[in-house]
Parts: sequence; structure tokens; C-alpha cells
Amino acid sequence: MPSPTRLLALAVLLVSAAAIVPPGQQGLPGAPPDNTTANAPTPDNESIVQTAGEVNQKSGAPVDAPPNASVPPTTVTAVDGTLTNTTIADASAGTHRRSLGRLGKRQSGYQQIFAGLPPNEHDASIEGTAYLTYTVVDNSTYNVQDCLNFCDTVDGCEFVNLYYEFNNELLDFVFSQKSNLKCAAYGDIHNATEKTNFGGQASYPQTVPLTYITQSSGWAADSLIEPTTPDGYELVFGPTGGANNAPGYMGFAFIDKYDVTACAALCNGRGADPIGGVCQYFNIWRAVVDGIPTTYTCSMYYIPADASTAVNFGQGDLVVTLSRGYSRLSVLPDGGFEGYTACDDFCFSASYTNWIGTSSAGGDFDASIFFYTPYARTGHGSGLLGAAFGDDALSGTLTPAAPLTTEAGKTYVVQAFVGNAFAPGDAEADAFVVILWNGVKVGEVNGFQPYTPVQVTVTATGNDVLAFTGGAAPAWSFLDDISVLPLLQ
Ligand SMILES: *[C@@H]1O[C@H](CO)[C@@H](O)[C@H](O)[C@H]1NC(C)=O
Ligand SMILES: *[C@@H]1O[C@H](CO)[C@@H](O)[C@H](O)[C@H]1NC(C)=O
Ligand SMILES: *[C@@H]1O[C@H](CO)[C@@H](O)[C@H](O)[C@H]1NC(C)=O
Ligand SMILES: *[C@@H]1O[C@H](CO)[C@@H](O)[C@H](O)[C@H]1NC(C)=O
Ligand SMILES: *[C@@H]1O[C@H](CO)[C@@H](O)[C@H](O)[C@H]1NC(C)=O
Ligand SMILES: *[C@@H]1O[C@H](CO)[C@@H](O)[C@H](O)[C@H]1NC(C)=O
Repeated sequence: MPSPTRLLALAVLLVSAAAIVPPGQQGLPGAPPDNTTANAPTPDNESIVQTAGEVNQKSGAPVDAPPNASVPPTTVTAVDGTLTNTTIADASAGTHRRSLGRLGKRQSGYQQIFAGLPPNEHDASIEGTAYLTYTVVDNSTYNVQDCLNFCDTVDGCEFVNLYYEFNNELLDFVFSQKSNLKCAAYGDIHNATEKTNFGGQASYPQTVPLTYITQSSGWAADSLIEPTTPDGYELVFGPTGGANNAPGYMGFAFIDKYDVTACAALCNGRGADPIGGVCQYFNIWRAVVDGIPTTYTCSMYYIPADASTAVNFGQGDLVVTLSRGYSRLSVLPDGGFEGYTACDDFCFSASYTNWIGTSSAGGDFDASIFFYTPYARTGHGSGLLGAAFGDDALSGTLTPAAPLTTEAGKTYVVQAFVGNAFAPGDAEADAFVVILWNGVKVGEVNGFQPYTPVQVTVTATGNDVLAFTGGAAPAWSFLDDISVLPLLQ
């Protein structure tokens, strides 16, 4: 029986003697590709429910601010369970008045949600989510129509609360309109259970009389505004009553109104997951707690989801409403090489319809596209840099068959998953992949790694050419799941 030392020596000999079977001869990778859909995280419902119980997004027209203020930018009230109070710079920038184009998206009709109390009784105004701005309307009559007209001019207005506010010095003497009939606009519909502001504030220089409210009525638009799909995204499903419970969850943010563009900005700005990469999908939904709109959730994912996983209808007192899913669009066709379908088990080619592989002078299959599930990160397709048969150590280049349909001046994130883990031992130490944008090097990956995402930010000139150069067999490099994602302008 051989001694342990002898066994070890034998094993070392076997490894070094065993020639690596190259990809072109269907060798098996030393390290299996990461399967990011296995063990990818799903939403933490508990953290979302708990945080929804902590935020307070309710407000109404202030007693001391002038009418007709601009709608403030959307605010982030929580990120991953931590309360915050920050604005989203590039979301919905500047558009506080609805353009005539958007007006056409819904009927201008309104219905009364609740009536005011009789004029001689004290009433209360709404304190609710998604408060936008207020105006005062001519108070010679209880002027519902002017208030509804005002709602039509405010971007995102779904609901108005009309009421008299007495003993407000600014309304009575300072503001030019000389009216105490307030019309408060909201981006969500509220009902009488949310009448919680009974006045009682000291507005006059002397501490009495205090403010009080009468005839507080609520009016909602007949049809909710269909949100504009943000630049670089497509609507995947919704609105439904189910939030996604899907893999690839990156975390959540609460925002102070139902603002799809704000969610897109959060998804674009979310730091990349070290295994799964950048945010590729978000799910926006409204949380209604005990019948009251409470917050607006953006859940972010690095794997696009769809309606089939939108099965979380809520927990406890929290009900999911107005859930929509949006997927990020790549301007790169077939970034996963799934369009290469020359066989159904194992085959490869230097080029096909969507990608072109080019070898170095004198090289042989230095860049190629494979149909073989064990080489792919997802699906069956992948790109290979480095001689497929291992018969030279020259680099190759993979480039999309057509220039990208990019918009000049726009910024894009290029993400690629690079796997330098085919050959065993130190053989991959020299692996390299250079990312080229119009022939200029914009990124590089070196050395052994299982499929790992790499990102570079580029500015487009229009019809841009993306390319990946690398490989020095046996230091092979695989590419998969490449995307070119526009950022919001
Ligand atoms: C958030 O910050 C703004 C500006 O500093 C402030 O006016 C507002 O009251 C804050 N809101 C909350 C809920 O803390
Ligand atoms: C405020 O907005 C209303 C409705 O758009 C308008 O009728 C009114 O003139 C504005 N008032 C001021 C002071 O800008
Ligand atoms: C209208 O508003 C002005 C300013 O607040 C107030 O002086 C006046 O009494 C109000 N008129 C009515 C009918 O409420
Ligand atoms: C109004 O509030 C009640 C009480 O919470 C709630 O049951 C009901 O669903 C709300 N109505 C609407 C239309 O939201
Ligand atoms: C979250 O809720 C969904 C739907 O109710 C459920 O399927 C899932 O298991 C929950 N996830 C966790 C982590 O509790
Ligand atoms: C990843 O693993 C899951 C579960 O084991 C399997 O269903 C799925 O097909 C795998 N995906 C890929 C791309 O291999």
C-alpha cells in the first residue's frame, strides 16, 4: 500500500500531466459558473412592514406658507429600513405643472369622496400622504369648481381637500388673494378617516383666537393618472394588488409619493451587487395600512421579475395596492448570446447574426460564441476570448454585429459578466479582458474569477461600437449577460 506522501506525489504528477481539455473540445470548466438565481435573495417583508409602521408621510397645507408653491421634489423617507429625508435630484425634475399632453391621459371628472360638516360646526382638514401644494380659491361661494380646476393644473394631482380656515392672519391680511377657502392638492386619494387637522394653531400676533376649520370636503379624480414610463424602462405588469416576491432582491426605498421616475432614479443609482450586478428591475407599490395610504415602496432587483411572482398581497394590516413592475432596457441586442442556436447541446462559431468574433493575425478561433450550458452564466450561450482549441496564446475580440442604437450625449452603464475560471490551478492568472468603447479602453478585468459583473460608465456619440478584447489560452475568458443601460437624463 503506497504511503500518503507517495499518493500526494502521484496526484501532483497526474494534475500536471493531464493536459487541459480546451473549450473547443468540450472540456469542462474548472470552476462551475455562478448560478445567481439559486440562493438569490427575496424581499424581506418583515423589514418593509416594520418600516412602514415607522415613517410618517402625512401632511397638509401649512398654516404659514403662501399658496401656489411649487410641488417639492419627491423625497426618500427610508432606505432598507433606515429612515431618511433626502430628495432625488434627477427624478421628476422641475415638472410641477402638468403639461397639456398629460391632461389627455384621464377624464377630467371628479367625484366627492366625503362632504364637509355643516357650516356652523368645526371640521378638520386632511393630513395624508403625497401632499403636493395648495391654493386659495374665491370664497364668495363654496367654490368647488375652481378647486377642481386647480387640481387639473398640478402635476400628479389625484385629489383635493377644500375647506375654510379661520383666524389665519396671513390669509386674512397678508396674502393678496384675501381668501380663507383653501384647496389642498394630493397625489393620492384620502378619505374622511384622515381628517385629523382640527386647526388650533396660533396665527394672529396675539395668541387667541386660534385657527379653526369648517366645511372640509374631499374630491377625487374619476380615473387615476397612468404613470409615464421612465426613460430606459418598460412597464412589465400592473397595476395589481401583488408586490413581487422574486429572487435578486437588492433592497427597498420608501418615497413620499407614487413617483415611478423617482423609483427609476433610485434603481439607476443603486450600488451594484457584487454577485448579481446593477439594478435591472423595480417594483413600485402603495402600502395601505388600516385602510390609509401610508407609503410608496420601490423594491429593487438585479434579476428582472414579472407578474408571475407578484404574489405578495401584504402582511397583517398592510395591504399592497397599485403594484407595477418596470424592467430596465438594454440597447445591446442579445447580450446573453442566447440568439446563437446552431445546435441544442454543444457547438461554437466565430460569429453569428448578433456577434462577431475576430482572431489575432495568425490566431485560430481566438474569439468565439458557444452554445453549451456548462459554460454559460445563464441560459446556454456565452462568448469566449482566447483560442478555443488552446493552440495559440493570442487574444481575440468580440463585438456586436451592428453599432448600438445609442443617443448621442447620453450616458450609459455597460455591464458584463466575466468568468476567468475555466482552466485549473494558476493557468488563469494571466487572464484579461479589455472593454473598448469606440476603440478606446474604458475598463479591464484581470486574473482568475468566477463569473463576476464589471461595470463601466460611458458617454454615447451615437452608433457606438462596443468590443471586448482578451484571452491568452489557457487563460481563457468567458463573457455573458452583457447589457448597455441608459441613465436618466
Ligand atoms: C426633511 O427635510 C426638510 C428640509 O430640511 C424639512 O423641511 C422637512 O421638515 C424634513 N421632513 C421630515 C419628515 O423630517
Ligand atoms: C394660484 O393658482 C391659481 C390656480 O392656478 C390661480 O388662479 C391664481 O391666480 C394663482 N395665484 C397666485 C397668487 O399666483
Ligand atoms: C373670505 O376670506 C377673507 C380672507 O381670509 C375673509 O376676510 C372673509 O371673511 C372670507 N369670506 C367668507 C365669506 O368667508
Ligand atoms: C376609508 O376609510 C375606511 C376606514 O379605514 C376604510 O375602511 C375604507 O377602505 C376607506 N375608503 C377608501 C375608498 O379608501
Ligand atoms: C414574503 O411574502 C410572500 C407573500 O406572502 C411570501 O411568499 C414570502 O415567503 C415572504 N418572504 C419572507 C422572507 O417572509
Ligand atoms: C439555477 O439553479 C436553479 C435551481 O437549482 C435552476 O432551476 C436553474 O435552472 C439554474 N439556472 C441556470 C441558468 O443554470
